[in-house]
Amino acid sequence: MSARTAEPPRDERPKTTVLTFRDKHRRGEPLSLVTAYDFPTARAVDEAGVDGILVGDSLAMVVLGHPNTLSVTMDEMLHHARAVSRGARGALLIGDLPFLSYQADEAEAVRNAGRFLAESGMDAVKLEGGKAFVSTIRAIVRAGIPVQGHIGLTPQSVNALGGYKVQGKTAESARDLLDDALALEDAGCTSIVLESLPDRLATYITERLTIPTIGIGAGVGTSGQVLVAHDLLGMFERFTPRFVKRYAELGTAMREAFAAYRKDVEARAFPGPEHSYTMTDEEWKAFQAAAVKRPHLRAARG
Ligand code: KIV
Repeated sequence: MSARTAEPPRDERPKTTVLTFRDKHRRGEPLSLVTAYDFPTARAVDEAGVDGILVGDSLAMVVLGHPNTLSVTMDEMLHHARAVSRGARGALLIGDLPFLSYQADEAEAVRNAGRFLAESGMDAVKLEGGKAFVSTIRAIVRAGIPVQGHIGLTPQSVNALGGYKVQGKTAESARDLLDDALALEDAGCTSIVLESLPDRLATYITERLTIPTIGIGAGVGTSGQVLVAHDLLGMFERFTPRFVKRYAELGTAMREAFAAYRKDVEARAFPGPEHSYTMTDEEWKAFQAAAVKRPHLRAARG
């Protein structure tokens, strides 16, 4: 890349912290979150005034092309989280602990959670799971790391759940999810993602908690909402869950732009004079005269 212009000035907004999050929730104001995995998207989300950016392990599917979230590694997550923290200055930044970075061993969970803060500028981490993870969450919170919980449809357990299915549809499973939410709050989570639950259950859980719930496929009664950026922008076309609202069709716009570029190149319509650099006639003539005197250079190179 060459001749890039200087960055335009950026409007500053105060940094969102877990306390800002808590206060906004206490005032009854909805919280907005979006995922991001790179610098330009993080910057756009941040400048749009969104409260929080989740560097989700959905990275595996929407950016890296894997069939599910299970194979993204801690190092890949950190690589993308670093790019996001370079792009976002105001939003709360949450790093998603990937599969097997916290399930096997509590000390390893604390170390991996800490890496998100120490090595990639995240403010908090998220992990999937209910009651079974209370002691892991307590250990991470003890290390001074804010934790966002995630219950309901937890994609890292897709094999155990038998697919990407709505959770909590029976009285018994709804009761389990309520218990999970209460246990996560008690363990010190600062917020909880509720994914793919009946809306009345998500609202009920939200009303029983003092910490904010962040819904995705959980209706309008949660304290806030999160969407995967590529879903919202129309850039992930493999499938679209019912809960996604597309705010743009960037997948189509990208294909159209790339095809228009290819056609321009093939027709020699790009680059035009406005995209090309010039040289004075005087320098050009001097160059030609010098070049004519040195024909042997080309011949010598063979
Ligand atoms: O990985 C992710 O993007 C998530 C959201 C769907 C909450 O966990």
